[in-house]
Amino acid sequence: MGSNILVTGGAGFIGSHTVVALSEAGFNPVIIDDFSNSNASVLAGLRDILGRDVPCYAEDCNQYNLLRKILHENRIEGVIHFAAYKAVGESMQEPLTYYRNNLGSLITLLDAMLAEGVSNLIFSSSCTVYGDPDTPPVTEETPIKPPASVYGNTKQIGEEIIRDVCQAKSLKAVSLRYFNPIGAHPSAAIGELPKGVPNNLVPYITQTAAGLRPELTIFGGDYPTPDGTCIRDYIHVMDLAEAHVSALRHTLSYPETRYYNTFNLGSGKGHSVMELVLLFEKISGLALPSRIGERRAGDVMAVWADVQKSANMLGWKTKRTLEEALQDAWRWQQKLNNL
Ligand code: UFG
Repeated sequence: MGSNILVTGGAGFIGSHTVVALSEAGFNPVIIDDFSNSNASVLAGLRDILGRDVPCYAEDCNQYNLLRKILHENRIEGVIHFAAYKAVGESMQEPLTYYRNNLGSLITLLDAMLAEGVSNLIFSSSCTVYGDPDTPPVTEETPIKPPASVYGNTKQIGEEIIRDVCQAKSLKAVSLRYFNPIGAHPSAAIGELPKGVPNNLVPYITQTAAGLRPELTIFGGDYPTPDGTCIRDYIHVMDLAEAHVSALRHTLSYPETRYYNTFNLGSGKGHSVMELVLLFEKISGLALPSRIGERRAGDVMAVWADVQKSANMLGWKTKRTLEEALQDAWRWQQKLNNL
């Protein structure tokens, strides 16, 4: 029997795909999710893929006694901590809500883990910690920039809290800095479920193609990039999910009792907004209504990952192409809208 792993936010976009990857790798995931930004239908999707129910606590994870009980009763050996608010714009309007939720739940979780002797933690961080890099690609040694948003600050502070705890206590932890996760499980049983108008590019593209939005606005066509649009590192969510399994194996087998490290999770390649639009049109066979609009405040011009450290130390690299990611995202949107 594999280890039991608590997945906070396990009903969310990256969390649910990681539950699949963990199960396929022989781990036993247990979910805690308050469904504030996810839907109970995810559990049915997981059942369709895995052929069994995944245990789930429909609770806020910022509850010390409850977390201790869950860790204890399920003999949890490691935690993957996804549960957090993630809307950049909203974080600027409601800073305390973001600090309370994202940092409060992390501190509560760390307290509960130490009390129960659970010593392996994987933390969801973000490439936002690099800000607007001078020369992409960014390595894990690239200097951290002052955060551009409250959301980004919760990730920076979260990393620092974990690093400090790993120096003082028996804890092995890694922070995973995600670049731009896109796509869905190829079965289309689970995928991204943005609430309201999507902030992110790919759900906006697929919703536009599905007729839910009149057109895509490309935020800025005058950046000093080859085609004038911003460049990002898009990674298939199943590749990202599998990286969590590799990271977990890495900490579980790490021979010391105190350990902390950070890893970039990206494809290692940069693609422009325009390239994504054209590739989507090719794979879907549709003409996507779009226009170039104003730049979006806070957007960086170009960022992509150097993934050598993840390859060397985690033995992980991406397997899926950008084309597959867009195909899977589109298949998921078509299923959602019965197209
Ligand atoms: N974009 C558009 N039109 C849209 C949506 C996005 O042109 O309707 C562009 C953006 O300007 C950007 C690219 O598509 O150039 C990607 O935008 P996303 O919003 O999908 O992703 P970001 O790179 O802005 O966001 C990521 C993570 C966040 C993180 C942020 C930090 O998703 O979690 O980087 O900047 F906070």
